[in-house]
Amino acid sequence: MSKLILILAVQILLLTTTFASARDRGDFARTMNPKRLHMKEKLTHLRVYWHDIVSGRNPSAILIHPHVKKYSSTSFGSITMIDNALTSDVSINSTLVGQAQGFYAGASQHEVSFLMAMNFAFKTGKYNGSTITILGRNTIFSEVRTMSVFGGSGIFRFARGYVELRTKWFNQKSGDATVEYNCFVLHY
Ligand SMILES: *[C@@H]1O[C@H](CO)[C@@H](O)[C@H](O)[C@H]1NC(C)=O
Ligand SMILES: *[C@@H]1O[C@H](CO)[C@@H](O)[C@H](O)[C@H]1NC(C)=O
Repeated sequence: MSKLILILAVQILLLTTTFASARDRGDFARTMNPKRLHMKEKLTHLRVYWHDIVSGRNPSAILIHPHVKKYSSTSFGSITMIDNALTSDVSINSTLVGQAQGFYAGASQHEVSFLMAMNFAFKTGKYNGSTITILGRNTIFSEVRTMSVFGGSGIFRFARGYVELRTKWFNQKSGDATVEYNCFVLHY
């Protein structure tokens, strides 16, 4: 019995000194074989409707006002922060599935083209708490635009993919718009 305790004690001592000396050498990373995690890549298609509400008393998209007297016709230099509703159907009153949080910025002097950077934060079912991160170029008057999915969290960790955008509704007077997002996401 005492021999067993001695062996255990020696093993613990050896283990702790091995880790301690590894840290002393500055080791902080190791190469792992992804196969050991038994991960299988999946492709998920999500279709959501993105509601850009700039008008009214409770807008979900607000223009950040810098010291610019007037923007060009292409909105070059403008920055709009968004916390836009994502719903399951075209109507803003359909099921809320999450929020699109981030910004879009006028990035072209000669056409209407925005740099978009945002997270889709999902709130329903098994997607609750998971996010995908979208970055790309949005020429809003083109019929179809694509942007990159270049990361995610929760269910969408290790995500990559792309989104396809189609404007479903645009009110020229108020500036409000509803855009369909078809998201194709590879993840584990
Ligand atoms: C959504 O609901 C609000 C309030 O319930 C209503 O005023 C609005 O017209 C509805 N919008 C649509 C597109 O159905
Ligand atoms: C989503 O998760 C949050 C935090 O865990 C929880 O409070 C909320 O009720 C969940 N919503 C749904 C629809 O499951």
